[in-house]
Amino acid sequence: MPERREVLRLEGVRKSYNVGRPNEVEVLHGIDLRLDSADFAALVGPSGSGKSTLLNQIGLLDSPTAGELFLLGEPTRRMDDEARTAARGRHIGFVFQFHHLIGAFTALENVMMPVMVARGRPDRDTLDTARSLLSDVGLERFADRKPDELSGGQQQRVAIARALMTRPALLLADEPTGNLDTKTAADVFELLRRFNAQYGCAVLVVTHDPRLAETCDRTISLVDGRVADDVRAFAAADGPDPAAQPR
Ligand SMILES: Nc1ncnc2c1ncn2[C@@H]1O[C@H](COP(=O)(O)OP(=O)(O)OP(=O)(O)O)[C@@H](O)[C@H]1O
Ligand SMILES: [Mg+2]
Repeated sequence: MPERREVLRLEGVRKSYNVGRPNEVEVLHGIDLRLDSADFAALVGPSGSGKSTLLNQIGLLDSPTAGELFLLGEPTRRMDDEARTAARGRHIGFVFQFHHLIGAFTALENVMMPVMVARGRPDRDTLDTARSLLSDVGLERFADRKPDELSGGQQQRVAIARALMTRPALLLADEPTGNLDTKTAADVFELLRRFNAQYGCAVLVVTHDPRLAETCDRTISLVDGRVADDVRAFAAADGPDPAAQPR
């Protein structure tokens, strides 16, 4: 089991849209949250509760209106665009509901994309890593296929392999299985779970599916832009809760 360390910490994170305009609206009202490297957490909540907004702040795709967000101990709110992009590329992997694979490229090329964007032509190491990730997601035989020659579940597995290409400390997924049938969705979840254990990569996944949320070690519920509940499954705890021990 990889050692447990803090990956992400949010302190009083607020987010407003349309700041300074008549239609200004605050949708996150002071979020405190910590994720560790071993965490495999579901983010749940009603439609409009702010899940995607929160994920966008955590993924450094957007910046909070107030509060601070620490990634691997580094404060991020005052980072300029360049530093933000670099931190995102280095430490965070994304999987979305629609995979955003590039149609003109093969599965293998899509997986290598995050590294090619940063460093240009792939070297031997990059190729080896990408092939091994494709094999981890069970698609080694499909390396040369284009996305439109793959099923929806296979495309999503390519997207997961791509998200892991840079060995991120944090993997964020916004309804990664929203588009898939029950069995394929469970398989995709299983893959995320395996990478979480194998690489100690913290996983935060938005899902509307209570059965999938149940398979997570932790369920964070967002209601009206506030954390209403943060529940850990007992099996995920480091040991028995000392407060719960008989005297
Ligand atoms: N760019 C924007 N400008 C103004 N309001 C926005 C913007 N994006 C989101 N909102 C509002 O912020 C609130 C939270 O939206 P968000 O997309 O984070 O919800 P969600 O929990 O992801 O919902 P869903 O489950 O439907 O995906 C909603 O009321 C939404 O209308
Ligand atoms: Mg959403």
